[in-house]
Amino acid sequence: MKVSVLDLKAEYAELREEILPALQRVCESSSFVLGAEVEAFEREFADFCGAKHCIAVSTGTAALHLGLLALGVQADDEVITSPNTFLATAEAITYCGAVPVFVDIDPATGNLDPTLIERAITPRTRAILPIHLYGRPADMDAIREIGARHNIRILEDAAQAHGARYRGRRVGGIGHAAAFSFYPTKNLGAYGEGGALTTNDDQIAKFVRAARNHGQTARYEHEFVGYNYRMQGFQGAVLRIKLRRLYAWTQRRQEIAREYRQALAGTRVEIPVDEPRDECVYHQFVIYADNRNSVVSQLAAREIETVIHYPKPVHLQPAYSSLGLPPGTFPKVERACDRVLSLPLHPWLTKEQVAYVGNAVREVVGEKKASAGS
Ligand SMILES: Cc1ncc(COP(=O)(O)O)c(C=O)c1O
Repeated sequence: MKVSVLDLKAEYAELREEILPALQRVCESSSFVLGAEVEAFEREFADFCGAKHCIAVSTGTAALHLGLLALGVQADDEVITSPNTFLATAEAITYCGAVPVFVDIDPATGNLDPTLIERAITPRTRAILPIHLYGRPADMDAIREIGARHNIRILEDAAQAHGARYRGRRVGGIGHAAAFSFYPTKNLGAYGEGGALTTNDDQIAKFVRAARNHGQTARYEHEFVGYNYRMQGFQGAVLRIKLRRLYAWTQRRQEIAREYRQALAGTRVEIPVDEPRDECVYHQFVIYADNRNSVVSQLAAREIETVIHYPKPVHLQPAYSSLGLPPGTFPKVERACDRVLSLPLHPWLTKEQVAYVGNAVREVVGEKKASAGS
């Protein structure tokens, strides 16, 4: 049985009857950049996140960049974040001329360990950038408490966490601002690139709204040098349709995650912990396995596709070699990257496919041995 990590064709088959007329509406209105569909999506996504404002932009990376600028991050500032992420998190810091300061992860969740933040703070620290990795919320109370004590503001990287809840609240309105990605593979994905910044802060919203559109506050009134980070009209139309399905799709992801957990109980893999306070939206279902690369090839032999998120932490990427952080600097994230593996997870997986993957992983990794003491 063939099982792929994603099935965007099945998604399109489900949505086709709604998507095509919506794209036609955009063509007929010629609102190809921003426009009515994007504005409606902004209102609907802000409501969904429980945030006062949503500003739609061209990518998640643009949302991170503008979010950091809105928090006042400037050249030579420092921003504390986790190296267990896609490079874009750190890139956005670099775009501001600032320096990413990494702290290690809590291996139980894969997210930034809040107990390590305080010792990373210096007089140059301007912001904290936690990532809700795999759709699992970072420990926002602990992070907010440290931020408040040191007068440092917080941008959430919610690129993988549309709809995730922390203590009952959806991510996106918990920090001072949050950045979302609508890259096609995300839980809420556009038909191309897309992103958004959400916030409850009127000043941040005002800045980002102008900054995404060349610093314009009115037509051809440029208050400052901004960017062309506008969302396309087609993406607003597609995202509105998909947002209406997101709750049901997320429930299906969570159901599959429960089935995987049951299938893998008692085996030699570790699975990140879901804190009872949280609702994880399972952008990815990851396992940690010894001999990960052999697990990958044995699953591939059974026609099960897997992906590694991420094989190398950001501090060990050539792009950040100038930081001079050698292997061993952040042992927990390095161990996670050596062992992590994402199993197929999307709303169109059948019950049989989920059972097939669960059984295959169980067979490949084997049962936990009592004598191993783990
Ligand atoms: C954690 C994280 N941050 C940022 C991004 C960047 O988003 P985008 O690809 O929309 O620029 C992504 C996704 O690619 C991501 O997974």
